[in-house]
Amino acid sequence: MARMQFFLLFLEIVLAATSFLLGQSSSSRDIMMGNSSLIDGQTLISSGSAFQLGFFSPVNDSATSYIGIWYYNLPPRESKVVVWVANRNRSVNTSMASLNLTSDGNLILFEKGTEVWSTGTSAELNSALLQLLDLGNLVLTAGNSSRTLWQSFDHACDTLLPGMKLGFDIRTNTSWHLMPWTSATDPSPGKYVAKIETYKVPDFYTVSVNGSLKLFRTGPWNGQWFSGLPQMGNNILVRDVNFTYVSNQNETYYIDEYQTRSPQLNRLVVDANVTYKSWSFVEGEWRVFLSFPSDDCDYYNHCGRNSVCTKGYYSTSCRCLEGFVENKSIVGCTRKEPLLCSSNQFSKEPGVKVPDTVNATSGGNISLNACKKLCLDDCFCIAYLVINGPYGCITWRGELLDLRSFTDGGDDLYIRLPESSTSNWKELVWAIVVIPVLLGILLLFCAGVLVRWRRNRASTSRLQLQFPRVQKVIHSVILVPDSISTLDVLPSYDLRTIKAATNDFSEGNKLGEGGFGIVYKGQLEDEQKIAVKKLSRYSSQGPDEFQNELSLIAKLQHRNLVRLLGCCIEGDERLLILEYMENKSLDAFIYDKTKRSLLNWQKRFNIIIGIARGLLYLHQDSRLRVIHRDLKPSNILLDKDMNPKISDFGIARIFEGDNALEDATTRPVGTL
Ligand SMILES: *[C@@H]1O[C@H](CO)[C@@H](O)[C@H](O)[C@H]1NC(C)=O
Ligand SMILES: *[C@@H]1O[C@H](CO)[C@@H](O)[C@H](O)[C@H]1NC(C)=O
Ligand SMILES: *[C@@H]1O[C@H](CO)[C@@H](O)[C@H](O)[C@H]1NC(C)=O
Ligand SMILES: *[C@@H]1O[C@H](CO)[C@@H](O)[C@H](O)[C@H]1NC(C)=O
Ligand SMILES: *[C@@H]1O[C@H](CO)[C@@H](O)[C@H](O)[C@H]1NC(C)=O
Ligand SMILES: *[C@@H]1O[C@H](CO)[C@@H](O)[C@H](O)[C@H]1NC(C)=O
Ligand SMILES: *[C@@H]1O[C@H](CO)[C@@H](O)[C@H](O)[C@H]1NC(C)=O
Ligand SMILES: *[C@@H]1O[C@H](CO)[C@@H](O)[C@H](O)[C@H]1NC(C)=O
Ligand SMILES: *[C@@H]1O[C@H](CO)[C@@H](O)[C@H](O)[C@H]1NC(C)=O
Ligand SMILES: *[C@@H]1O[C@H](CO)[C@@H](O)[C@H](O)[C@H]1NC(C)=O
Ligand SMILES: *[C@@H]1O[C@H](CO)[C@@H](O)[C@H](O)[C@H]1NC(C)=O
Ligand SMILES: *[C@@H]1O[C@H](CO)[C@@H](O)[C@H](O)[C@H]1NC(C)=O
Repeated sequence: MARMQFFLLFLEIVLAATSFLLGQSSSSRDIMMGNSSLIDGQTLISSGSAFQLGFFSPVNDSATSYIGIWYYNLPPRESKVVVWVANRNRSVNTSMASLNLTSDGNLILFEKGTEVWSTGTSAELNSALLQLLDLGNLVLTAGNSSRTLWQSFDHACDTLLPGMKLGFDIRTNTSWHLMPWTSATDPSPGKYVAKIETYKVPDFYTVSVNGSLKLFRTGPWNGQWFSGLPQMGNNILVRDVNFTYVSNQNETYYIDEYQTRSPQLNRLVVDANVTYKSWSFVEGEWRVFLSFPSDDCDYYNHCGRNSVCTKGYYSTSCRCLEGFVENKSIVGCTRKEPLLCSSNQFSKEPGVKVPDTVNATSGGNISLNACKKLCLDDCFCIAYLVINGPYGCITWRGELLDLRSFTDGGDDLYIRLPESSTSNWKELVWAIVVIPVLLGILLLFCAGVLVRWRRNRASTSRLQLQFPRVQKVIHSVILVPDSISTLDVLPSYDLRTIKAATNDFSEGNKLGEGGFGIVYKGQLEDEQKIAVKKLSRYSSQGPDEFQNELSLIAKLQHRNLVRLLGCCIEGDERLLILEYMENKSLDAFIYDKTKRSLLNWQKRFNIIIGIARGLLYLHQDSRLRVIHRDLKPSNILLDKDMNPKISDFGIARIFEGDNALEDATTRPVGTL
């Protein structure tokens, strides 16, 4: 699943790179000079046509309008995706409102002559200039030196665009933060704030406006991403994005910058969740590529203090840290025995989220051993951890809050233990090392016996597995929309022609043997090369039904699918005439030591992209929906230019007949 997403991401980048979308110039105005105004119906459009500024109404009623910025070039244009609102708190009646840039450099929104909102700036007479930039920033500058008086990027609403800062400006003592809309139709600030808390170890939180309730936190910066969001790391390479965290004597902020992808295709939005969205050319819509909280364990301190939250496949569980026991009177766990100043043992809690840093201290970029010593030197230190990046060694006093485990990623936390609990050390080793090892050996032995037994038994590679407790896991094989006609029929060849082409199905013409039958190479009289699949078994369908079925499959045409050219039905013989693929199948390459080296990374990449395209077509873009159910390297064929083509799609239907049409089947199929 995750790999599939990766392929699609690559695909997006390719499409975005070749896309027409951004960068064309426009004759519309993007500038407003001093002593001029903007009224209903007038807008500013950024020079690259990415953004538009003007009046909009979230309820489509001109009496409740706002000044805002939205995407201009990305569809759907009808439903504006608003990224910034000036007068969040108070709507205006557009028929009586105007946005004036005064000659002395103040941008004011008037309704019936009264001021509703303003930037409160001033400049020398007629030197101010308002411009909507192509990154979505509305900038007010003054004087011939273009001094920035005000910019919308400093007054974010619920959306963080690339290039916008999230953090704290020490010089002006103000924070750059995000606040969600109250509702989809009301842009006024909602109950929560997403901000970077500048403790000794900064952390990105979403908290209630009154500050008393933390909703979730990302963990501190590890130099590349927020440590509590390992998913973020996966996106850096694929999306070609630099997530950056800057901290100096003037300011401390988080910012993201895109390198090759157009920055305008990305935004971070705060609503009930914090969500990274990216415009998808494949889907034609905004797709979420990162969202938190992503599960219950992401909610702040879900398991209470000194307790680790683990997300399982079906449920979420809580577990006390080593040395702690559950305490019914509080949420979470308390120490079994008090810590003494002389306690010098630690237990390692691997792959967890860095606990809340509100009271934590950073020892800077030092080694793990130096960090341990730092903790031992402090009688009250209860845990330490070293992350990458500027904060390095982090130590805690008091309690550990908001811990979760990660299956992939996360950091190793060292928890200080009271001395006594280390005396059971040997028993512990016995319990956690020796017993599992013995169990493991026993299991391996059983597995070996089982495998041998299976090998002797399984004569074909295609197995239909039956599980005692089945879940609805696999959906329909093919859904046939009513509108599809089966009138135009697939070309039919007579058996004599095919016999001639394949040298009477000679052993020398045999290409391989798949789950459904033997495949032969052939050449028609007009020199066209073909592959002939001789079906070894099929459902009891009559010849007409069989041919109709094939006609449906033949309609699935895509450059990454093997084409069905025709069929041959005579007596009991059922033959499929397919496109001939010079380079046979992918497994012939990847499982062969010498041929493997012929596949360089570029070729592998192209093959991956091709498979992803073919699957996307089968799953979504074709008129028939097909779930392959047996995708494997031997079903990926390669043409003479090493372009991949998926084969054997939809064939299962021929074998399984009407059962395959069910919307949901409870039976897993495929290759063992
Ligand atoms: C603003 O413009 C109006 C007409 O366009 C003009 O009469 C007025 O003098 C201008 N005000 C300033 C301060 O330039
Ligand atoms: C908004 O209202 C106008 C007129 O009332 C209507 O023509 C238009 O379709 C509406 N737009 C949306 C998006 O509802
Ligand atoms: C908005 O202004 C127009 C024109 O002045 C007026 O007819 C309309 O009633 C106003 N709407 C509201 C809700 O005040
Ligand atoms: C909006 O209103 C709230 C409370 O009414 C106030 O705290 C906040 O400063 C206002 N925001 C703006 C941008 O005027
Ligand atoms: C704002 O600009 C409009 C159009 O230029 C003008 O009619 C109006 O008087 C201005 N409002 C104020 C309060 O200056
Ligand atoms: C630019 O501003 C400086 C100082 O405000 C002034 O001395 C200079 O003449 C200005 N230049 C132009 C071209 O307006
Ligand atoms: C910064 O602002 C906060 C409240 O907004 C205030 O308590 C604090 O004193 C200010 N600090 C400085 C240095 O102005
Ligand atoms: C703060 O806000 C949260 C959420 O809106 C609310 O549950 C809590 O009671 C508030 N606390 C105080 C002290 O107002
Ligand atoms: C901080 O601001 C001062 C004055 O604005 C500037 O001289 C200095 O270079 C800034 N420091 C950094 C690290 O940006
Ligand atoms: C991203 O980071 C790399 C390496 O740190 C740097 O070379 C590149 O200039 C950065 N790109 C942007 C857009 O900041
Ligand atoms: C927030 O995320 C949760 C869990 O992923 C989801 O159930 C919920 O619908 C999301 N809320 C919004 C407003 O997107
Ligand atoms: C941080 O310290 C304060 C004051 O000692 C305490 O009230 C609070 O619970 C501590 N928070 C955490 C997360 O340890």
